[in-house]
Amino acid sequence: MQFISTPASLCRAASDFASIQQTLLQERQSDLPTRLHCNETAFDLPHALKQELALKMADLAWNRYPDFYNTELTALMAQHVGVLPENILLGNGSSQLIQQIFSCCAKFLSAAIIEHPTFTFYHQVCHNERLPYQTWQIADDGSYDLDTFPATEEPALVVLTSPNNPLGTALPQQLIETLLLRYPHCIFVIDEAYAEFADGTAVSLVQKYTNLLVIKTLSKGYGLPSVRFGYLAGSAELVQLLKKFTVPFTVNSFTELIVNELITNPAVSKAVRINRERVKNLRDFVYHQLHDMSSDDSFSVQASAANFLLLRFEDDLMLQQLKSMFDSNQIVVSYPLPNCLRLTIGTEVEMSRVLRIIRKGVSVAAVV
Ligand SMILES: Cc1ncc(COP(=O)(O)O)c(C=O)c1O
Repeated sequence: MQFISTPASLCRAASDFASIQQTLLQERQSDLPTRLHCNETAFDLPHALKQELALKMADLAWNRYPDFYNTELTALMAQHVGVLPENILLGNGSSQLIQQIFSCCAKFLSAAIIEHPTFTFYHQVCHNERLPYQTWQIADDGSYDLDTFPATEEPALVVLTSPNNPLGTALPQQLIETLLLRYPHCIFVIDEAYAEFADGTAVSLVQKYTNLLVIKTLSKGYGLPSVRFGYLAGSAELVQLLKKFTVPFTVNSFTELIVNELITNPAVSKAVRINRERVKNLRDFVYHQLHDMSSDDSFSVQASAANFLLLRFEDDLMLQQLKSMFDSNQIVVSYPLPNCLRLTIGTEVEMSRVLRIIRKGVSVAAVV
């Protein structure tokens, strides 16, 4: 079992904080034109549509708090996804809901199980909540081996992401059900941040299994990270328990309005759908181009059910070569695993630049 650090001294905490500040500063400085590192969507909503929504915002009462329980939006969302309002909890992006789940569950569970690799925030919340965790290794091709699941007698919080970040591969529904049945004493969280780029969702399972929470967000498949909206679906008992850890007014009136429009205004949902289809088509195009390029086995590219692609390099020299080419072209990508590069799908122009750079980088490294 991987043990989370024991309570740190004040001094240690201050130095951690300084390094976080440094990272934030570096990120701000590297806020370069081509952002292909945090899985945003390159395409915004049409300007006229945003103006229409802004006009509606002007009609809201800015001098009033939003509804404490976001009652209307919760009911609308429940109807939209086919569950009851008591099965839904809204949040300020899925990160806030993840934080809420962990701070609640750490009070009555003594361990967590997270996949490796996974969204790095899960490591952070385990550390912050001082929740010891074990990892479940996912194979490079995204497959899971049930025999290696860290079997646990004690109730644990188990977090799985589907599609996985950074692999881009989706979890088979059958595997989720097998785990839910095999470990009824554990609480399972399925993070579906990228599920709109894939097929299927585990949301309907929350009516069958009381130990399941499914988290969704508008940040990826809806292309609206600035709106800061996420929700979770789960059993009424779990949702009720989590509500006790809600910070008042996490979902503001402007967010409520945009989400309401997204569900009820066909012009908004159509614009979002068009952008998403464009990303999916580009993803598949770029995947095939890279797959053809990788025929000499110097690198491999993982087929993806998300809005990014993971490239795995045989040779660190080639990755370093590409890294310096991306840097000099002011293209920011991410390096989430050793010898790997994660590339968010950008615009057509950005992707053709990226493909040109990779083609050149691979051939230069082959000569060196
Ligand atoms: C797997 C996964 N879950 C959750 C999030 C958080 O998204 P947000 O807080 O914007 O909803 C991310 C962001 O990159 C992610 O990759």
